[in-house]
Amino acid sequence: MTDKNRVLIFDTTLRDGEQSPGATMSHAEKLEIAAMLDEMGVDIIEAGFPIASEGDFAAVSDIARQAQNSVICGLARAQIPDIDRCWEAVKHARQPRIHTFIGTSPLHRAIPNLDMDQMAERIEQTVTHARNLCDNVQWSPMDATRTEHDYLCRVVEIAIRCGATTINIPDTVGYTAPRESAALIRMLLERVPGADQIIFSTHCHNDLGMATANSLAAVEAGARQIECTINGLGERAGNTALEEVVMAMRVRHDIMPFDTGLDTTKIMGLSRRVAQVSGFPVQFNKAVVGKNAFLHESGIHQDGVLKNVETFEIMRPADIGLNEANIAMGKHSGRAALRAKLRDLGYEVGDNQLKDVFVRFKALADRKKEVFDDDLIALMQDSAANT
Ligand code: KIV
Ligand code: ZN
Repeated sequence: MTDKNRVLIFDTTLRDGEQSPGATMSHAEKLEIAAMLDEMGVDIIEAGFPIASEGDFAAVSDIARQAQNSVICGLARAQIPDIDRCWEAVKHARQPRIHTFIGTSPLHRAIPNLDMDQMAERIEQTVTHARNLCDNVQWSPMDATRTEHDYLCRVVEIAIRCGATTINIPDTVGYTAPRESAALIRMLLERVPGADQIIFSTHCHNDLGMATANSLAAVEAGARQIECTINGLGERAGNTALEEVVMAMRVRHDIMPFDTGLDTTKIMGLSRRVAQVSGFPVQFNKAVVGKNAFLHESGIHQDGVLKNVETFEIMRPADIGLNEANIAMGKHSGRAALRAKLRDLGYEVGDNQLKDVFVRFKALADRKKEVFDDDLIALMQDSAANT
C-alpha cells in the first residue's frame, strides 16, 4: 500500500456479526452478502470460522471461489488443525488470508492455562505455520486492550518476526476509550521492532457505545485497517459499524483525512439486506442507516431543509444510496413542508386551498403519528369535493 492515508476496510459481518445470538444466515444469504460487500469495494471480507462447523467451512470456501476483488479471510484459533482447516477453505480465493488469534490478557491466558512463555511459544509456532501456508497472515492478541503493555509488545514482536503481515488489536469487550485506543497503537508503533513493516488494525466492540470513536482514534494514531460490520452487527452490543466509520471519515475529511476504496452508495442496500437476512432490525435512530437518520419532522427543520438542505443535513442521503424523501409529515410539520410535499405528489395548491388542507392535515396529524402520501391524497380529494 503506497498511500499513507488509505484505510483498509475489513468487514466481519459474516464472522463476528454472525456470532450475534440469533443472527444465523443461510449459505445462500452469506454468498449474497459477500458478493454485495465485494462489489461495494470492501478490502477484506472475513467470511467465517472454518473449523466451527461444516456449514461455516462450506460458506468460506464458496465465498473464496466467488470473490472478485476482496481478500477473503477465515478465522482460526492458535491451533494447527484450526489453521489447516482455515487454509483449506480460503485457499480457493484469488487473495486468501488466514487470521489466527489467541487471548493474551491475564484473564484469557488462564483459560488454556498457559504461562507467558508457553503462550509466546504457541504464538511463534502457529503464526509460523500459518505463514508457511499463506503469504497473507493476520494475527490478533484477543483482549489486547486488557493485556499488559510489555507482554503485548513482546507477543506482537514475535508475530511480526514469524511473518504476520497484519496485526489486529482487538478491544474484545468494548472496554477502551478513544484516548487509550490511540495511545495503544502509538505505543506499539514506537516500541515494537518491525512495526513499521506491517499494518496495524483496530477491532472494537461497542459495549460502552464507543466502538466508532475508538476505531477512528486508532486510525489517527496510525492503524490502517478498521474491522467492522454492517449495521454494527456482532456479539453483545455489536462491533464497530462500517457505515459509521466510513461516513465519518468522508464527512469530516477536513479533520480525518483518510480514504477508503468504498462505493458508499451501496451502504443502504447492504444495511437493509443484512437486517433482513440476520433478522436484526436497525434501530430507527441508528446513525447513518436508521429509518429516521435523514427524516425531518419539526416545522423549523423542514422549512430549513426545504430552503437549504445543509441547514440540518451533514451528508446527502444519495451518498449512502438513499433516494427517498427526507420530510416526514406529522403534527410538527409546517405549511411550507406541506406545500412542497403536495407538489411532489403532483398537486399545485393556491394559498386558500393550502389554508384549508393545512387545517385538515393538522387535525389528522393529531390523530395519527405519521401522515403518509395516501393520507394526503385523500385529504386533497376531500378538499376538492368540499370547495
Ligand atoms: O473480539 C475479538 O477479540 C475477536 C477476535 C477473534 C479478533 O473477534
Ligand atoms: Zn470481535
